[in-house]
Amino acid sequence: MGSESLWYKDAIIYELHVKTFFDSNQNGYGDFPGLTQKLDYLQVLGINCIWLMPFYKTPLKDDGYDISDYEEISPEYGTMKDFKNFVKEAHRRDIKIIIELVLNHTSDQHPWFQEARSSRASKKRDFYVWNDDPQKYNQAKIIFSDTEKSNWTYDPLSGQYYWHRFFSHQPDLNFDNPEVQQAMINVLTFWLNTGVDGFRLDAVPYLFEQEGTNCENLPQTHVYLKKLRAELDKKFKNKIFLAEANQWPADVRPYLGNGDECHMAFHFPLMPRIFMAIRKEDNTPILEIMRQTPVIPDNCQWALFLRNHDELTLEMVTQEERDYMHKEYAQDPKAILNLGIRRRLAPLMNNGRRQMELLNSLLFSLPGTPVIYYGDEIGMGDNIFLGDRNGVRTPMQWDGNRNAGFSTVEADKLYAPLIIDPVYGYQSINVEAQSMTQSSFLNWTKRMIRVRRNFKVFGRGNIEFLQHKNPKILAYTRAYENETLLIVNNLSRYVQPVQLDLKRYNGWEPLELWGNVKLPPVGELPYFLTLGPHSFYWFRLDKH
Ligand code: GLC
Repeated sequence: MGSESLWYKDAIIYELHVKTFFDSNQNGYGDFPGLTQKLDYLQVLGINCIWLMPFYKTPLKDDGYDISDYEEISPEYGTMKDFKNFVKEAHRRDIKIIIELVLNHTSDQHPWFQEARSSRASKKRDFYVWNDDPQKYNQAKIIFSDTEKSNWTYDPLSGQYYWHRFFSHQPDLNFDNPEVQQAMINVLTFWLNTGVDGFRLDAVPYLFEQEGTNCENLPQTHVYLKKLRAELDKKFKNKIFLAEANQWPADVRPYLGNGDECHMAFHFPLMPRIFMAIRKEDNTPILEIMRQTPVIPDNCQWALFLRNHDELTLEMVTQEERDYMHKEYAQDPKAILNLGIRRRLAPLMNNGRRQMELLNSLLFSLPGTPVIYYGDEIGMGDNIFLGDRNGVRTPMQWDGNRNAGFSTVEADKLYAPLIIDPVYGYQSINVEAQSMTQSSFLNWTKRMIRVRRNFKVFGRGNIEFLQHKNPKILAYTRAYENETLLIVNNLSRYVQPVQLDLKRYNGWEPLELWGNVKLPPVGELPYFLTLGPHSFYWFRLDKH
């Protein structure tokens, strides 16, 4: 398989909402012309793929995941011409674009739903899932448990209940209906024609329903995804699917099929365990979940993340682990949303620079493609007083000027208030200030991205965890073709020693990758290292 077709394995993905980035026309919302102006920033940062949250026509009750027209751009964000120009400009900088394919549901404002509810005899009735009895499918869990009491909502207009896995204003499409299946293939083709490089398949485990099951990961879903993939490959080359399947590794694995469904899937269960490992100062949570992580087809890849636009989800942990996470990371109950924690990376780490660096070392060196959430590269803060997940979606902080350089409108016209607290406020945390400070987190992140991009092994290599006696140290090798890395992470806030059995690399020389510093060669005896608090080493092992 050619290198270009595996581009997603070497990618560094940057997730953002166009709304949050840069407002070029003073309406209080970021827009495509604004984002296009900021592409140089992203190029210099070193990322090579942008994942955009939904920007389609929407009543904005779930930040655009409630779509009322799949083929229209929401007017606040610009026009189709602006979008296409953005894609062209991104490509000119070798940056790929992944957009959202929200298959599972529409907004209740979508004309399909409006028509469907207008009468039981409507031609669109069967586009959605209706029933007289709201007890049907009662083994399906409620995802937005803070807001919804049932997955059924009564529609007084047509006198039946409709099914929804998320908010009640997001009716689920009925994928048993071949017309729905085809309609979404049309949406896919429409966006492929704009030149985008891939799609995140939103909420993909929930497409079908079946009595007696939890209505997740049903076999029909995989049949449909294979069909969708065939469509993706039919006319276009090197386009990808990234599955959002918040499931255990064994249940995510089928979304990759035999390399003929999705190219990538998020590794949801790993994420909270990284946070547990650093707080417990113990490598067990990471080792355990990696042990359960199945082998995936050669042309597939995990997408790794620390934070994203949603709450730090705690669905893929035990109740005990969830209690631990709440106790450690959500002392203020306002930080809890549904089962998870609605905070950004920096506040979760109490703004601890070393901790933030260590988590990024893990994100960038474990097997997979790292996904950075916008603003986390400067250590942006959040605002847990804003409703739902809005507290982690505030405007990007460009400089210390009016509205953080995001927009010139009056502050009360911004789509969301800026972060203004003394620690994370935009006067202190912003791109301009950090660009001017050599040791800033932004510059550190740039460096890390650069180091990673020099070696294919990070995105493509296998992993072997090294056995040793200090549980506070997580050490592994990564290998791909003629590249071998040794990665050693100190999960503890104190200095730690470790003795690594590297006998099989006897005579090899470790080269520290951030400073290109040679260490003494590996010998017969265990290799002895000491690591400072929360520090890490990335070595290349060179054979002589
Ligand atoms: C996905 C999105 C989330 C959205 C939900 C419903 O989980 O990540 O933001 O609310 O789908 O569309």
